[in-house]
Amino acid sequence: MNILAIESSCDETAASVIHDTEILSSVVSSSASIHEKYGGVIPEIAARKQVEFIIPVIKEALGEIPVEQINSIAVTVGPGLMGSLLVGVEAAKALSLAWDKPIIPVNHLVGHIYANFVKYAEVIKLDFPAVVLVVSGGHTDLILMKDHFDFEYLGGTLDDAAGEAFDKVARLLGISRYLGGVRLSKKASECQDNILDGRLPRPLLNKNNFDFSFSGLKTAVKRIVEIEDPPVDSVACEFENAVCDVLIVKTIKAVKKYNAKSILLGGGVAANTQLRERFQTEAGNMNVVLSIPKINLCGDNAVYIGVAAYFKHKVFGTKAFVSLDNIKANPSLGIMDRV
Ligand code: KG4
Ligand code: ZN
Repeated sequence: MNILAIESSCDETAASVIHDTEILSSVVSSSASIHEKYGGVIPEIAARKQVEFIIPVIKEALGEIPVEQINSIAVTVGPGLMGSLLVGVEAAKALSLAWDKPIIPVNHLVGHIYANFVKYAEVIKLDFPAVVLVVSGGHTDLILMKDHFDFEYLGGTLDDAAGEAFDKVARLLGISRYLGGVRLSKKASECQDNILDGRLPRPLLNKNNFDFSFSGLKTAVKRIVEIEDPPVDSVACEFENAVCDVLIVKTIKAVKKYNAKSILLGGGVAANTQLRERFQTEAGNMNVVLSIPKINLCGDNAVYIGVAAYFKHKVFGTKAFVSLDNIKANPSLGIMDRV
């Protein structure tokens, strides 16, 4: 099955051609550098950039692949920014009409999970049940994956997402005005002596549930910076440690409770080096298989949208195809919402 996948949920315009779970092509164009000037994503500008990029990006992803060899079109229908989502969704509908190909709508958050099922030379066998941690700029969700497209919600953030907390703290520390996760993490890695060791809270760490909360942590950073003005690398290090502690402890608790055989990570924050390394150690200690997408598949792209669509079709057959009238962009789609 060859799928043309389209992703346009926020400030990345992406298209990819997937053969089953194998990548034939992947193109990502981002308007992030423009938003950096404003210190946050401007929805109107993001949508206009989507309009500008969508056709060239799809064309480049198709390359020499003849349209006749495309079996279906996968598209992100949410969550995300309405203006951005609409561009991808309407482009997919237009191509579906013109080429007479069915559409498979995909939930962006489910897509992040399927970055773990992209085929590479080295095969990691992922057994179910798996505990999945989706950590992105807008979401932090812990899911029990019993099989393909069989998910149970365990918990999620009650306020800010983990990536959002990274971004806000990076801005507060003057490290970056937009999407500061990578730069904050780099600053943390430069810290030789964390003089704030253990000083920041680990929110909800010992609560008997799988929920997260990061907004209080951000406020605690603000207070400590205002009162003590500590070295920026110590704050970055202590903040990163606090976020990783909570994400790891809660995930491992879920693994133990549900006797999970695998741990899957997904989303932009899964690119974080400390998180990746500490999960490797934890999974090794518990003899559980760990899968973390390659760095370039953690952030937004269309590869995982195509792979999610492939599995959706495998599980639901032609029921995975949705008529044009019933495909709608939904900015507030949750990870458990069916599309
Ligand atoms: O999944 P993603 O690309 O977009 C959404 O769907 O939200 O995630 C973006 C988020 C941003 O908050 C960004 O700062 C964060 O992922 N991020 C990181 C790292 N790389 C990206 N956070 C911490 N460490 C990183 N290395
Ligand atoms: Zn994302």
